[in-house]
Amino acid sequence: MIKIGIVGVRGFSVVDAISAMPGEAQITAMCDLDQEGLDRAKEKIGLTDSQCYRIYEDMLEQADIDAVVISTPMQCHVPQAILALQAGKHVMCEVTAAVSMDELWWLIENVEKSGKIYMYAENYCYMPELQLVRQMVKQGYFGEIYYGEGEYIHDCTDLRLWKGKTGWRTYWQMGTRGSFYPTHSLGPVMQCFDDDRIVSVTSFGPGNHNPYGLRNDDLTQTLCQLESGKLVKIRVDTISPRPHNMTYYQIQGTKGCYEAPRGLGDVAKIAIATDEDPTGFQNWRPLSDFNHLLPERYRSGEGDNAGHGGGDYYIVADFIEAIKTGVQPELNVYKAAEWTSVALLSQLSITNQGKTMEVPNFRRDMPWEEKRIKL
Ligand SMILES: NC(=O)c1ccc[n+]([C@@H]2O[C@H](COP(=O)([O-])OP(=O)(O)OC[C@H]3O[C@@H](n4cnc5c(N)ncnc54)[C@H](O)[C@@H]3O)[C@@H](O)[C@H]2O)c1
Repeated sequence: MIKIGIVGVRGFSVVDAISAMPGEAQITAMCDLDQEGLDRAKEKIGLTDSQCYRIYEDMLEQADIDAVVISTPMQCHVPQAILALQAGKHVMCEVTAAVSMDELWWLIENVEKSGKIYMYAENYCYMPELQLVRQMVKQGYFGEIYYGEGEYIHDCTDLRLWKGKTGWRTYWQMGTRGSFYPTHSLGPVMQCFDDDRIVSVTSFGPGNHNPYGLRNDDLTQTLCQLESGKLVKIRVDTISPRPHNMTYYQIQGTKGCYEAPRGLGDVAKIAIATDEDPTGFQNWRPLSDFNHLLPERYRSGEGDNAGHGGGDYYIVADFIEAIKTGVQPELNVYKAAEWTSVALLSQLSITNQGKTMEVPNFRRDMPWEEKRIKL
């Protein structure tokens, strides 16, 4: 039985998943600076007073836990992850992984040194529709993939305040220039490019027209060049006044493409050439025609009650599996670093008139020269 402590009440998203896997894992501690949030957690999870903490360091020292789920604001992620790893705990951490390039290296060094599991909680990679597209990519339905797009459109301007006061998002998200929150868009797209690596980032924005004094451009478009020469484009837009669409994606290959819905009754769709229909790439058909290709565990419905279409269940299941087997998960610290660095380098790019920034090589055991940011 893996015993888990959660810091930050957003970590509730793992509660339903864990209750659906009795005998595997249990939440044995909760921490939040905010007493109201802590009280809600205590009731929802059914914890005792002694299992609830306001101070994170106290939870690490006193609670009976093997692992920590970090669901606090982004600027807390690396300091809290390092403390947990140094205390001998496994870590699953919310997005994004870090708020500076140096933090990414500190994180990697601490994961390697501790030998503990680090899982990047990029839950969008686990959404059923994107899992299905990934299966179709693997099975060659789109041919060779050479282009992908992801958009996170979510007007978060109301979230700049927290309980009526200036919240962390005012500075660490919408107060920061560039694609500060890229991995919901990037993660599922990058999973269609096997193990290809992002080697450069170039970002542009239309300037700043919001009435709130937020420093982020109203949206940021970022081009990521991959080592293979292929291309990924992402749009992070948390300010524009328009309907939400946090899961817009496109994948283009030599035999056809996938496009997520845009709204107003649109559905997820594909257009592909097949042996029977060589010009099939000219006509849309619903992605759901291929539902039978969903990974078996999604079809079995075991995670259906958890959030994000069951995705929140499978991400926790993979974290537990990684702890049990001692093998780092697919969404490991290196992926977390590479994808998060797009945010940090995007900031440098956009503040230097769209200069192309090289991405350091975050893969394991790279020589020092490969790890430097080259301006
Ligand atoms: N994966 C997703 O779909 C998704 C969605 C929303 C948010 N997030 C991420 O989840 C994290 C939390 O976002 P949120 O919307 O819940 O933020 P929030 O501001 O609503 O909540 C943050 C909580 O953390 C607590 N907290 C802050 N500092 C703390 C500390 N040092 N020790 C203990 N508790 C502390 C606060 O009291 C608050 O309850 C962020 O990293 C965000 O990027 C991910």
